[in-house]
Amino acid sequence: MDEILNKAGADQVGPPLWLLAELSYRCPLHCAFCYNPVDYSQVGTELDTAGWLSVLSQAREMGAVQLGLSGGEPLVRPDLEEIVAHARSLGFYINLLTSGVGLTPERLDALKEAGVDHIQLSFQDSTRELNDFLSNTRTFELKQRVARMIKTAGYPMVMNCVMHRYNLPHIGQIIDMAVEMGAEYLELANTQYYGWALLNRDLLLPTAKQLHDAEAIVEQKRRQIGSACQLLFVVPDYFEGRPKRCMNGWGNVFMVVTPDGRALPCHAARDIPGLVFPDVREETLRHIWYDSPLFNAYRGTDWMREPCRSCPEKEKDLGGCRCQALMLTGDARNADPVCSLSPHHHLIDDAIASAASMQAAEGGCGDGPARVVARDPRVQPVEAPIQFRTNPPRHLSR
Ligand code: FES
Repeated sequence: MDEILNKAGADQVGPPLWLLAELSYRCPLHCAFCYNPVDYSQVGTELDTAGWLSVLSQAREMGAVQLGLSGGEPLVRPDLEEIVAHARSLGFYINLLTSGVGLTPERLDALKEAGVDHIQLSFQDSTRELNDFLSNTRTFELKQRVARMIKTAGYPMVMNCVMHRYNLPHIGQIIDMAVEMGAEYLELANTQYYGWALLNRDLLLPTAKQLHDAEAIVEQKRRQIGSACQLLFVVPDYFEGRPKRCMNGWGNVFMVVTPDGRALPCHAARDIPGLVFPDVREETLRHIWYDSPLFNAYRGTDWMREPCRSCPEKEKDLGGCRCQALMLTGDARNADPVCSLSPHHHLIDDAIASAASMQAAEGGCGDGPARVVARDPRVQPVEAPIQFRTNPPRHLSR
């Protein structure tokens, strides 16, 4: 019976077009909004080079075309160039997502030679103070140097800046900085509240007014700069009333392989209890994608409960985000609580109210990080309980 169901599923399911290879959870930065796991106790040792090459070959053979190399920081892997060269030989379009730390001119040349198509460089803010505070490192100047290196090497550059209450008031300056640096695209990625960002949600969540003001500035800048730099700004789902079509649907087009070789439908699925997370060292990618209970758990709409089951928009949003439903309601089968029709929607209203009252108690929003404590003693010390990402323990390193 299982075999028949699996076959039927395989006929209807398309290939994983987008593969995100999280090469390592190790990272020189300690960002307060990182989506990597908060608890590394369940994480095993990193895949070796041969393991990654096999993952890429299998994914390409199944029809994957886009490859993201991320982490943590992918540059911590000394075999990154080898992995890129293999991906290039298979015909992937290759996007390197990096903090820039560890990118030297020599490495940039080697990566170009190996076949990276474009580089996404993260910034935390347009000011040194906030950039260094939010990553808990002194990296602002280094990122500026890396941005120049990327342009000199002739790469198209996507600049990425995760947005939240501290840097939304600087959105105009962040756009100016990206244009000045020659970025072709600027992704103004509003914080998604998973991992470390969920821990820090009261401190990071903006007000509706901050978002509204930021959106108006983005519109104005779009008119000013024309096609010089494409600006991507999406209002966060907490303020939308309707859920996002997370990952474009569970097990629909997107596959993540984690540093320790677990194949997942999204970054955060690992926290969902009762699911088994297949190991690419033990099962083929094809079997995992088409036949594993994990990838079939929330495919399509059959798994839905009310109010999703009878919702006329269920094919459009596919019930939103399973991980958000789990994190906020305790059950991944519930409607995503950001949906105004969810019986748990009050949790979102409560989160927004809680963050607003925290900001009011601190004397308002948009005044920078002046009340928050940095863990790195070289970064200007201040006083609130933001929790910075810690790095994985030594056993995860190769
Ligand atoms: Fe897992 Fe949305 S992040 S389904």
